[in-house]
Amino acid sequence: MKPLIVKLGGSVITDKCKRFSVKRAVLRRLGRELTVAKGPLIVVHGGGSFGHPLALKYKITSGYKSKGQLMGLTLTHRAMELLNSYVIEALQNAGAPAIAVQASGCTIVSGGRIKSMEIKPIKRMLALGLVPVLYGDVVLDVKRGINILSGDQIVAFLARRLRASRVIMGSNVDGVYAGGSEGKNRAKLMRKITPKNVKLVASLGVDGPNDVTGGMRNKVLELVKLARMGIESKIVNALKPNVLKKEIQRKQVVGTKISWRR
Ligand code: IPE
Repeated sequence: MKPLIVKLGGSVITDKCKRFSVKRAVLRRLGRELTVAKGPLIVVHGGGSFGHPLALKYKITSGYKSKGQLMGLTLTHRAMELLNSYVIEALQNAGAPAIAVQASGCTIVSGGRIKSMEIKPIKRMLALGLVPVLYGDVVLDVKRGINILSGDQIVAFLARRLRASRVIMGSNVDGVYAGGSEGKNRAKLMRKITPKNVKLVASLGVDGPNDVTGGMRNKVLELVKLARMGIESKIVNALKPNVLKKEIQRKQVVGTKISWRR
C-alpha cells in the first residue's frame, strides 16, 4: 500500500505574476496525466499566486503578533481552498476520485516544522482507492501561534510516515540547476543528487520575492532527507506536456533524481 506522492508546484498551476490566476488548461492536462498512476496516489499542491501574496501581506510566517492577522489567516486559507477546488475538479474530470484534506485541520507545527498530523483518515482513503489532495496551508504553531506549512514539507512528512514508493515534484523548471551563474559559467542541470554532490545544494537559491516557504533549496533539503531513508524522488518539469505522465510510468524523462541508491 505504499503510495506515490506527487506535488504540483504553485508556479505550475498558477500564474505567479498575476494574483489568483489559475492555469486551467495546464491543470486539465495534469489531471489526465496523473490518472496513469496505477497504485495508491496522493497529490499535494502549492500556493502560487493564491497563497503566497496573502501569507506575505498578513506576515503569517512571522507568527501571531496582532488580531488583524487572524482574518488574514482565514483569507489565506480560503484562497488555498479555492485553488484546491480547481485541482480537485481537474482530477475528478479526469476520472480520479479526488478528495481534499486540509492540513490546517489536522496538523500542528512547532517553529514551522510538523509536530503532529492526523494521518489515519488519509490511510483509509488510500485503502479505499480515493486520491487525497493536500496543499500548502495555514497552520497553528505551538511556538509562534500561526504559520505557513509548505506543500513540500507535507510531501516529505507523508512520504516518511506512509513509506512512499516514490516522490515526484512537478516544477516549472527541468530540475535543479547548480554550480554557476549567468553567461559563460552557466548553471548546469544536476541529473542526480547523491552523497557525492549533495554539497552543491547549499549554493541553491533560498527564495524568490513572493515566496514565503523557501524556494528550491528547502525543497531539495526535504528530498535529501527522504533519500537518506531510501525514498527516491525526482524533480521534473510539469509544465511540459507528458513529462509528469512519463515520469509516473517510469519512462526516462529529463529531471533531477535525488537518490542515495547506487
Ligand atoms: C505555500 O505552499 C502555501 C501558502 C503560501 C499558503 P508551497 O510552498 O508548497 O507553495 P509553492 O509550490 O511554493 O507555490
